[in-house]
Amino acid sequence: MFLAPPVFDATGNRTSGGVGCAICHAAPEFDIDPNTKKNGIIGILNAAGIDITNTRAPSLRDLVKSNGSSNGLFIHTGNLATLQNVIGHYGSINLAPGNTNLDPRLAPNGVGQKLNFTAPEVNALVAFIQTLSGTNVYVDTKWSTPFK
Ligand code: HEC
Repeated sequence: MFLAPPVFDATGNRTSGGVGCAICHAAPEFDIDPNTKKNGIIGILNAAGIDITNTRAPSLRDLVKSNGSSNGLFIHTGNLATLQNVIGHYGSINLAPGNTNLDPRLAPNGVGQKLNFTAPEVNALVAFIQTLSGTNVYVDTKWSTPFK
């Protein structure tokens, strides 16, 4: 599910396929595809207005600690507390006014994608992301700067 791209009908509803997370968050580090645009979340942390320039995500490794507890809050706005919240965001992408930088891969035929998740699919995605658990991203100096 994480790897396979979704198949959409003309109205942006997923009819088959996976849910395409790896299109942007690719193994082995599950860091962001450099050509990625906005994923649809356009707020600014603790401020009014919109930010349509933030198109990077940290690695999806170590989103949760080895004991299963969250290393979130997630997303640059810090407003999504759980993996279920983040997955829910991708389930129904909103074409927000002013977001001229939405990644077209999230808007098939120009319509915000609707992944139509089942509950077992959400649970399976969470379980997969939990297999990437740990704290290495926060403590290993190899991750300390993206500029070396
Ligand atoms: C079109 C590219 C794209 C696709 C497809 C995509 N993402 Fe993302 N993802 C992003 C971008 C860009 C961000 C950073 C957004 C921000 O902070 O504003 C992000 C952020 C995240 C984060 C937050 C990471 C953190 O540390 O805060 C999680 C979790 C995540 N994505 C999971 C997923 C899952 C699960 C899927 C599949 C259902 C998925 N993504 C599909 C582009 C994508």
